[in-house]
Amino acid sequence: MCGIFAYAGGKDAVSVLVDGLSSLEYRGYDSAGVFLPKSGAVKTVGAVDNLKKKLSQQPLEGTSGIAHLRWATHGEPTEINAHPHHDNNKEVWVVHNGIIENYKELREALKKHGCNFVSDTDTEVIAHLISYNLAKLNDFEKAVTKSLNELKGTYGLAVSWKKEPEKIIGARMGAPVVLGLGDGENFIASDTTPILRHTKNVIYLHDGEVAVITPSSHNIYNLNHDIINKQAEVIEWSAEQAQKSGYEHFMLKEIMEGPEVVRNTLRGRLIVDSGLAKLGGLESVKEKLKEIERIIIVGCGTAFYAGLIGEYMLEEYAGIPVEVEVGSEFRYRKPIINDKTILLAVSQSGETADTLEAIREAKRKGALTLGIVNTVGSTIARETDAGIYNHAGPEIGVASTKAFISQITALALFTLFLGRQRQMSLVTGKRIAEELLALPQKMEKVLSQKEAIKKIAEKYAGHKDFLYIGRKYNYPIAYEGALKLKEVSYAHAEGYGAGEMKHGPLAMIDENFPTMAISPQDSVYEKMASNIQEIKARKGPVIAIATEGDEEIKQLAQDVIYIPKALEMLTPVLTIIPLQLFAYYFAKARGCSIDRPRNLAKSVTVE
Ligand code: F6R
Repeated sequence: MCGIFAYAGGKDAVSVLVDGLSSLEYRGYDSAGVFLPKSGAVKTVGAVDNLKKKLSQQPLEGTSGIAHLRWATHGEPTEINAHPHHDNNKEVWVVHNGIIENYKELREALKKHGCNFVSDTDTEVIAHLISYNLAKLNDFEKAVTKSLNELKGTYGLAVSWKKEPEKIIGARMGAPVVLGLGDGENFIASDTTPILRHTKNVIYLHDGEVAVITPSSHNIYNLNHDIINKQAEVIEWSAEQAQKSGYEHFMLKEIMEGPEVVRNTLRGRLIVDSGLAKLGGLESVKEKLKEIERIIIVGCGTAFYAGLIGEYMLEEYAGIPVEVEVGSEFRYRKPIINDKTILLAVSQSGETADTLEAIREAKRKGALTLGIVNTVGSTIARETDAGIYNHAGPEIGVASTKAFISQITALALFTLFLGRQRQMSLVTGKRIAEELLALPQKMEKVLSQKEAIKKIAEKYAGHKDFLYIGRKYNYPIAYEGALKLKEVSYAHAEGYGAGEMKHGPLAMIDENFPTMAISPQDSVYEKMASNIQEIKARKGPVIAIATEGDEEIKQLAQDVIYIPKALEMLTPVLTIIPLQLFAYYFAKARGCSIDRPRNLAKSVTVE
């Protein structure tokens, strides 16, 4: 997720663009840059403040231009990889949000035509491609449309050409683009946030639509260059509401982004017919991975719980022994490691000190280190030998929600990758790939019950203690569900393996101590049902997360939230959603500071 913003009007474009970027900062903060066709480009690493400083030393002039905030996907967050990107002659400049899947093929083909690539990004290929087509067609609009037809993947982009400085072309395929229609000025942006301070009249582009703006005109085309008539809408949101896509909190917005996040984590990584996972970030260690005999997964908090789910997946489907350890404990043991051991670090921020120290310790002992990391170019991403990026986009809410879902998805991809290097059959590989691709739609079904979940959360808002129980794949979900409730509402919540109830926690249960029972119809369903019976017998209220069609559970639980049927190992992606929503609405009902819970920080860089 990056932010794009473009302006064509009569005002000082630098002030408009930089001001707009500041309001888009929640979309990324790895690097920032602007290009004005009348005077050139300025780019920096880091967020908008750095760009402002640089622009005060290297001022740009002009009344139109394009700007970008980067959340890195391909290539480290360096100045050379910062957008806007340009062609050989520095005439065509592009800002882009999304992932171009065929960039390697295009890059090789364009190199043969004399294009010199300077960055590691997939975006640079777009600038060269447009320039190449412009040389043949000598028509800016047609050259952009032709180029868009040659791209595979996702984009929300804006293009500027030095020879037509007042004109900017925007386009959308799988990444949002909005036009803002002002008086003598027009805008293109990733969302309405930077536009709303100038105009409330907007047009949302659909996939396959191209917009051409000048200060006094706007036209929309399809990819065949046929004109499309679209009416403007009037937006009543404030800029702050727009940053959160109209949601009151980032936490809810990020929960609702789950299906999109899974699509982004999976994009271009599954070959369904062969039942294979294609993980570019592991290419360099692919042969070595065939020989490994043991995996140690390390993470903290939510990332640790994702690791526990990974343990079940990897042992069941890849047949490799796995241990999972919290980062803060790992190096105080005497871990037994050899060159057939992998240490796999899971981290959203890629900066968590405890996880990082575990990696360093494992490296010292000769382990191959891998990462499942969301933040490209972060310390963990740099210090591990290879890895898988989540592509979940920036997570702003302190409570991790969409990153957790992406971590489970990435662990499933890794399981498929290692499993197929070993004994996993083609049939099983295909099944996992198909089930992964079916997840986003199933997640949408769970999310559509958010109002019902809100009512349940409000009903229980007066309770002080909660127990979360689950088994097997949903045992770590009990811990993660309880953690979500604790951190955003400050209520007391404990996660337990359901089988452990009778070894102690059952003593706490009475009519004032509700239990969240994660009990989809899977291989441990009968055992879960018995555990729920034990709670019911002690008058404990039960909220069950169950599989659609399970009517029996209604005899045992006061409240039931249903999830669609899914492959057992992937059920955690569905069962966590009601628990995230429950924690959110519970905390909201109690008036808590949801996006910034007391005493917590998003990135924990101290041990
Ligand atoms: C909980 C939460 C934390 C993080 C933990 C690790 O909602 O966000 O428990 O999961 O601090 O952070 P990363 O994944 O950045 O290493």
